[in-house]
Amino acid sequence: MNANNSTLRAAITGLGVYLPEKRLTNQELEQMLDTSAEWIVQRTGICERRIAAPKETTFTMALEASRQALTVANLSAAKVDLIICATLTPEHPFPSTASLLQHALGATRAAGFDLEAACAGFIYALSVARAYIISGMAENILVIGSETMSRVVDWEDRSTCILFGDGAGAAVVRAVRGPAEVGGAIESVVLANDGSKASALIIPGGGSHSPTTEETVRQRLHFIQMNGSEVFKAAVRGMSDACLLAAERADLKLSELDLMVAHQANARIIEAVQRRLGLPDYKVYQNLQRYGNTSAASVPIALYDAQQEGRLRSGMRVAIAGFGGGFSCGAAIIRWG
Ligand code: ACO
Repeated sequence: MNANNSTLRAAITGLGVYLPEKRLTNQELEQMLDTSAEWIVQRTGICERRIAAPKETTFTMALEASRQALTVANLSAAKVDLIICATLTPEHPFPSTASLLQHALGATRAAGFDLEAACAGFIYALSVARAYIISGMAENILVIGSETMSRVVDWEDRSTCILFGDGAGAAVVRAVRGPAEVGGAIESVVLANDGSKASALIIPGGGSHSPTTEETVRQRLHFIQMNGSEVFKAAVRGMSDACLLAAERADLKLSELDLMVAHQANARIIEAVQRRLGLPDYKVYQNLQRYGNTSAASVPIALYDAQQEGRLRSGMRVAIAGFGGGFSCGAAIIRWG
């Protein structure tokens, strides 16, 4: 028997996204804060971001993205074995957003849990899905990144609130056999953490360390706090090192890589990663100008847009990379099916 044909692999077979309709432009931010549209574009590349309406939440956005991904993958919800929802802005502290999705989708046989690895969450969730599939524990997995960042940013802090946006992206990950060139595969995954830098990107309040009180609210501890330059440097190093290692594990030369889809945090971060990897412009995808940093949702939304725009096609080998609070970091090499 041909080993290649019999090997069990995990492949992305459908993507879906949901983005709120409301756009918040840099010009509108000029009216709200001591900032300028020009500063924001120059320092970040972001032109506008989407903001959830009051009725839109991490769950409702994840639900729409999941339904679309299932339709594209031609998979009924009843066949889903596992739902992994990557988010740092869950619907509630508990129960998990994945539980709510399980019920709303009618995924009657699915188990589900939320996964928190901040902006690297989608890569972490994909790695779990791949491991479940390769070990034979599941065949059909829904991996989602969904974030309502507008509810955890401090709208009085101009150094952070300009960066983030809301949205969701979902991927159906399925067990496939046969040639990878046809069915696609998540060929390698690399994960890393540097917990010594945990305080550089954090929501300090609302957990067991500082439960919500009038005092924590007064101190605005329930909002994101960030040391921007420390995050910047670590994100460049972390995502480029992770991409290099993921490529090595997939036995892929960087010159053979067709596209890099990195976490859409800041155009300057992506450009610095691109320089370190020696990639030409046409091999690097960016859509952060439209959506800002949607945290765990950014990579699946970018993959979706890249596919819609014809930048991501069957047979291509794509590197995805994420970096976020923790500091958590990850990368994967995917052969697009
Ligand atoms: N408008 C105008 N001026 C501003 C603004 C603003 N919105 N924000 C900060 N400034 C000022 C600062 O106060 C500072 O002024 P000072 O020199 O008088 O003190 C000046 O601009 C320069 O500030 P820097 O922090 O040095 O600016 P920098 O070029 O580093 O850009 C930025 C800041 C955009 C935040 C950058 O550090 C960055 O992108 N870091 C990574 C952030 C990130 O991506 N975080 C999320 C990734 S992980 C995750 O997604 C969870």
